[in-house]
Amino acid sequence: MKYGAHVTKMRWLFAIGHTGQFPEFKTLFATNKRTEAGVTHPRKIIIDTDPGQDDAVAILLAFASPELEVLGITTVAGNVPLDLTSRNARMICELAGRSDIAVHAGCDRPMRRELVTAEYVHGKSGLDGIALPDPVMPLAEGHAVDFLIETLRREPPGSVTLCPIGPLTNIATAFERAPDIAARVAEIVLMGGAYFEVGNVTPAAEFNIYVDPEAARIVFGSGAPLVVMPLDVTHKVLTNRARVEAFRSLGTKAGHAVASWTDFFERYDMAKYGSEGAPLHDPCTIAYLIRPDLFSGRHINVEIETEGRFTTGMTVADWWRVSGRAANAMFIGGVDADGFYTLLTERLARL
Ligand code: BDR
Ligand code: CA
Repeated sequence: MKYGAHVTKMRWLFAIGHTGQFPEFKTLFATNKRTEAGVTHPRKIIIDTDPGQDDAVAILLAFASPELEVLGITTVAGNVPLDLTSRNARMICELAGRSDIAVHAGCDRPMRRELVTAEYVHGKSGLDGIALPDPVMPLAEGHAVDFLIETLRREPPGSVTLCPIGPLTNIATAFERAPDIAARVAEIVLMGGAYFEVGNVTPAAEFNIYVDPEAARIVFGSGAPLVVMPLDVTHKVLTNRARVEAFRSLGTKAGHAVASWTDFFERYDMAKYGSEGAPLHDPCTIAYLIRPDLFSGRHINVEIETEGRFTTGMTVADWWRVSGRAANAMFIGGVDADGFYTLLTERLARL
């Protein structure tokens, strides 16, 4: 049965009090809030990001989706240094007419390592592809880590979902500084890791996890409900000419920007993998929040390698459940790619 179908079935079982038989699905119910009148409240999310063209598309998708309420954006050093990711995040907000969003700058380096960046993929600015005006909106006051802690303590437990789409430094620092907040998180839906696809930055590691493996280890060990979008799934949502032209032919600022970003971003992966286009990694997290039925995966144990000679940053995913270690993550592997692009294009048309 597809994961999305499980969600529907489990929601129903939950309603009649039978979830004890399916403990691995219990994390899914925290955020599906309906009032007695049957009105669904938007799900509150915080996007933790290092934009990046694919981060930008994820942020636009979230803005275009009434199912989601973006409480704030927290920036982290990753694809490019923090000053640029913080600048890019504000440019994306302004492109979408959302200068009301609080953008908090966070950690400028990994917890215990030197920063590794990826200008060779994303360009010098991190958002090469189209020239956007410098942002006018200021950064929000307060460090991203404080914003995460304060928001999770202020909002009702189980009501805020975190969407990390860069290295996990901000989230892990917040968990380390305020150990009470992990239990208040509804769900963490993150882009990072790989198993069958192995690495994109080393033979064993995916970029977001590789940049700050100590942070990833803290997050994966936090006990917070985790949904992981590894390369195994993101490499299945490849752009192609028709998909990019569909963005461009929206005839909007957002459509044009997304087409230009993906045109730029594609060249690296096409040369590296010989593929038809580029994976839109980060938007998978937001698409999952809107349409979980497009994705399928397994609830398994995932450990982070921090001391490997060749494998630092590897997500050791127990896909075949051979380790006996307790499951800590829903590790996604399958996606309806056409459904994903239809959703993305339809949503971008609303901006
Ligand atoms: C991840 O690394 C970054 O380059 C992308 O933005 C994405 O979050 C893919 O490995
Ligand atoms: Ca990213």
